[in-house]
Amino acid sequence: MIKPHGSDTLNPLYVADDAKRAELLKEAEGLPKLLVCSQAAANAVMMGSGYFNPLTGFMSLADALGVCENMKTTDGLFFPTPIVNVVPDVSAIGNAKRIALLDPNVDGNPVVAIQDVVSVDEATDAQMAGMTTQAYGTDDAAHPGVAAFNGTGKFFIAGPIQVLNYSYFATDFPGTFKTAMEIRDMIAKNGWNKIAAFQTRNPMHRAHEELVRICMDREGCDGAVIHMLLGKLKKGDIPADVRDAAIRKMVELYFPANTCEITGYGFDMLYSGPREAVLHALFRQNMGCTHLIVGRDHAGVGDYYGAFEAQEIFHTDMVKGNLEINIFEADHTAWSNVVGEVIMMREAPEGHKKEDFVFLSGTKVREMLGAGKALPPEFARPEVAEILMKYYQSQA
Ligand code: ADX
Repeated sequence: MIKPHGSDTLNPLYVADDAKRAELLKEAEGLPKLLVCSQAAANAVMMGSGYFNPLTGFMSLADALGVCENMKTTDGLFFPTPIVNVVPDVSAIGNAKRIALLDPNVDGNPVVAIQDVVSVDEATDAQMAGMTTQAYGTDDAAHPGVAAFNGTGKFFIAGPIQVLNYSYFATDFPGTFKTAMEIRDMIAKNGWNKIAAFQTRNPMHRAHEELVRICMDREGCDGAVIHMLLGKLKKGDIPADVRDAAIRKMVELYFPANTCEITGYGFDMLYSGPREAVLHALFRQNMGCTHLIVGRDHAGVGDYYGAFEAQEIFHTDMVKGNLEINIFEADHTAWSNVVGEVIMMREAPEGHKKEDFVFLSGTKVREMLGAGKALPPEFARPEVAEILMKYYQSQA
């Protein structure tokens, strides 16, 4: 199986031994406590789950500056986005060498991890603005990822962590949340050699479905892992349980049995387009996939990124050669009334016109579903559309 990033085997930071975990929970009772932000808690879950291998904990300010500038930590490790624990105020932890991190996303704020405090540094405003611009390609406060990154404070608390649970992801999505270790086990059990990973934060429409099929066919994949984001999204995006139900229905009805695993990971969406695509590739390699599908406006929001910037970044000197996973670069894909199937636009037959494709904007889809109007079957499978319609109507 493909090796993880940065080491021969995965080194997840979740403490799997029950007795050791109980001992650490006991220790946490006596430690200074720090309520972390949602992104830091999700970072801990991702490190616990093996996805951010080979990180051993939160990056320092110096590492974050390096990662934002040229995707390298101070030790020269390739990493595309800062994985940090940033807070507005560190007075609660004093000079403590070990602290308990409290989960903001679970009632009662239980301890999600214990951190060794190696350094605490306050970033300057100029450093924050520089990192934001490099990591998100903009410092516009209207960008949801930028707002989240800049809204959590400026103190970077760095050091190794021991993860004690998977936050709400394991409890709210028991059948879908999977660690990188579990996905590697799944792949081994299925006997798959070439595996396409599909990143998604949406229900899967015909274009999404066909991207998976096209990638599998062309790359000779014997399996696909649909890997949905289960963490926080911007307002207006569809909740994970609804997406999960829609995706399960689509796979059940339209994919041959035993070719597609439906899984999810515990992370908040960054909406950082190209940089997030590289992070996506890194953690799909860690979970054992050989290919990642990157299509149009991957991990984008608004018009902050070019439609194919998330593919182009893989060809830059900063990224090339640093990951083993292959990127399946897909063109804009839509139903063609001429061909009678979903195709990539660059492969449309001669004379094919833009009007021959069936397009629907996200706004239009929401409007139609909210009004109880069926989506065209060329755009969405009727069984999927029905699940989405129920959701939108319950919101009306
Ligand atoms: S994302 O934020 O997770 O990228 P989404 O779930 O919509 O959003 O997309 C999942 C993947 O499908 C991404 O690689 C995206 O580029 C790709 N994609 C979605 N719709 C299309 C489309 N119509 N044509 C080509 N690629 C698409």
